[in-house]
Amino acid sequence: MTTVVYDNIGQLVTNDPASGEGPLGLVRNASLVTDGSCVLSVGPAGQIADERIDVEGRAVIPGFVDSHSHLVFAGDRAEEFASRMAGTPYAAGGIRDTVAATAAATDADLRRIVSARRAEAFRAGITTIEIKSGYGLTPNAEARALHLARELTDDTTYLGAHVVPVAFAGRADDYVALVCGEMLDAAVAARARFVDVFCEVGAFDADQSREVLRAGIDAGLIPKIHANQLGQGPGVALAVEMGCASADHCTHLSSADVDALASSTTVATLLPAADFSTRQPYADARRLLDAGATVALATNCNPGSSNTTSMSFCIALAVREMHMTADEALQAATIGGAAALRRTDVGRLSTGSPADLVVLDAPSHLHLVYRPGVPLIHTVVQSSTPR
Ligand code: NIG
Repeated sequence: MTTVVYDNIGQLVTNDPASGEGPLGLVRNASLVTDGSCVLSVGPAGQIADERIDVEGRAVIPGFVDSHSHLVFAGDRAEEFASRMAGTPYAAGGIRDTVAATAAATDADLRRIVSARRAEAFRAGITTIEIKSGYGLTPNAEARALHLARELTDDTTYLGAHVVPVAFAGRADDYVALVCGEMLDAAVAARARFVDVFCEVGAFDADQSREVLRAGIDAGLIPKIHANQLGQGPGVALAVEMGCASADHCTHLSSADVDALASSTTVATLLPAADFSTRQPYADARRLLDAGATVALATNCNPGSSNTTSMSFCIALAVREMHMTADEALQAATIGGAAALRRTDVGRLSTGSPADLVVLDAPSHLHLVYRPGVPLIHTVVQSSTPR
């Protein structure tokens, strides 16, 4: 076993209050020793190991945990985005354009596109990622997407209930039956970990969403939901009712929704880049945090509502527009994301955690917000095998 010390760290965020100051477990003038796979120790600068990497006073943070992405797609919707910036509202129907573009891609092309996108996310500091299907919408195409996603992560999500496809126009209930039957079987065979549904006007209503989540749970999948993205609705209440790991978007919440999230184990996963790209108001993170809800931040990388892999951008938006502190936003993008994936191993840098870390080209994590748009990701280390 070769040990490695990251030495001369100006500021280390461990996310372990027992390892340092405050909720972030901050250690100044630190060093971190790994065995190339896990963290062996956190301590003052100058710890000894077989190999020494001098980070020259830079900050080190846990790798980002992106708990909501739709990386498996072909084509883009730049024209739709441009027209939205000119005033056309976002609607669920654009998903069908991406379904057609994805269906036209060969397996080899789609694998190359998705791998390149995952590599881009890695360079942005994302060491753990969840990837959804949802641009297939047939049993074979959903299975193809899940197999490709599974080559990159164990945290894969079956989203056959993304929108009703053209072939089922006017027959939404028939499509829901397919999603809960043959398509679910294909998703389970492709080893999906989560089941998700887009509960929104133009996608699936509360009864249909409940049916999809119930079928997924019965098949052994962990439920998640796209909730309250475009308006108030039943999504968040359903998330809590069904014990979802996360309710994602949460842009339009009633007081009852906030209270329900705060008194549940469901994580409110906020997607500020989607609010940005769809000209929605920003989700009210401050209200959720003050009420006691657990909040995650994720990129929601997809061709329609949020075509970015930049968690740094999401953090900056969350602080400026959602009134999170920089500390809260960093936590939401690391251990918050882990909670949304029901994982306790990633998102922290304490003894025994995977040595998944980001060296920032900055003296502290505050610069992620203070220097928006500047490429501050200096080095990304993923020591854990992608699950
Ligand atoms: O999370 N809202 C549903 N799904 C994606 C957007 C999909 C699309 O527009 O292609 C989201 O924002």
